[in-house]
Amino acid sequence: MSLLNEIEPLRNEALHALTAAADLAALDQARVQFLGAQGRVTGLMKQLGSLPKEERPAAGKLINQAKTEIEAVLDSRKAALELKAALPKEPTDFTLPGRRRSVGRLHPLTQVTEDIVRSFRRLGFAVADGPEVEDEHHCFDALNTPADHPARDLQDTFYLQTPARPLLRTHTSSVQIRVMEKQKPPLRVIIPGRVYRRDNADATHNPTFHQIEGLCVDRGVTVGDLKGAVEFVFKELLGDDVKLRFRPHYFSYTEPSYEIDFTNSLVRKLGKQWMEIAGCGMVHPQVFENVGYDPETWSGWAFGFGIERLAMLRYGVNDIRLFYENDIRFLGQF
Ligand code: DAH
Repeated sequence: MSLLNEIEPLRNEALHALTAAADLAALDQARVQFLGAQGRVTGLMKQLGSLPKEERPAAGKLINQAKTEIEAVLDSRKAALELKAALPKEPTDFTLPGRRRSVGRLHPLTQVTEDIVRSFRRLGFAVADGPEVEDEHHCFDALNTPADHPARDLQDTFYLQTPARPLLRTHTSSVQIRVMEKQKPPLRVIIPGRVYRRDNADATHNPTFHQIEGLCVDRGVTVGDLKGAVEFVFKELLGDDVKLRFRPHYFSYTEPSYEIDFTNSLVRKLGKQWMEIAGCGMVHPQVFENVGYDPETWSGWAFGFGIERLAMLRYGVNDIRLFYENDIRFLGQF
């Protein structure tokens, strides 16, 4: 058979072999077989010399064409097989559930705090803040709480070993003093914050919890104003069916002082008549003296209550410790 007649079948054979190669190794074998230094296409080239001189250019051209074609198929086949090798062995299951990104949310105590703050803002109150590490002056003395008062006992208060700021505040009332020392009356502030007491943790106690404090100072402020403001906020928080009761009580920084009890359907569901929720009263004239306000000119009311207690009732949580464990199965429910 003449060399010219061999070109076309060899080209077809080569293209077939390349196309049939199932993986990169097989493809490379085919490449070596046809295009390698000892390969069959290369072999044809070498035989050109045996042709009569006038037939050589045409034959050379045909062989080169075939070679170019084979190389092109080799390249595209190689690219396809490389891609296939890079893909996962198992087919992708598009019906598998996707990975969900879970969205965070506010802690239930933050939500309740924000609701309370929002209600008081509508009454014109601004938010104030103060240090958790306090001195006895702001936490007790300026609030008229004498040195022999049980609240100052080592049993109840965490004392630090530093001389300047010796304790962790036991209530947010300390910030009332800080605000009045800095600002001139009239003022309306609300103070959410963390407080500390030497309690053992159980279902209703924790050594740290949160309070919200309110203070309103102006000319001619009365107990009626106190009741009106507190009733407005508790109705917003707990619904219109809430009833409040002001029971006479004693706090050293207010006179008169009250404890606020409330009731609603939630409280009655717990089998109770009333639940104690807050302390409040009219700011004691001595407290005004202590911060340099003239008690003849100014009067005011104040209150303070625990946020956890309210959140537990609102959400039906029966153990205060759940708020601090940061278990997302719990936190995800709010
Ligand atoms: N400080 C009190 C407590 O921790 C709560 C309180 C009572 C705050 C009466 C007040 C107040 O501002 O007037 O139990």
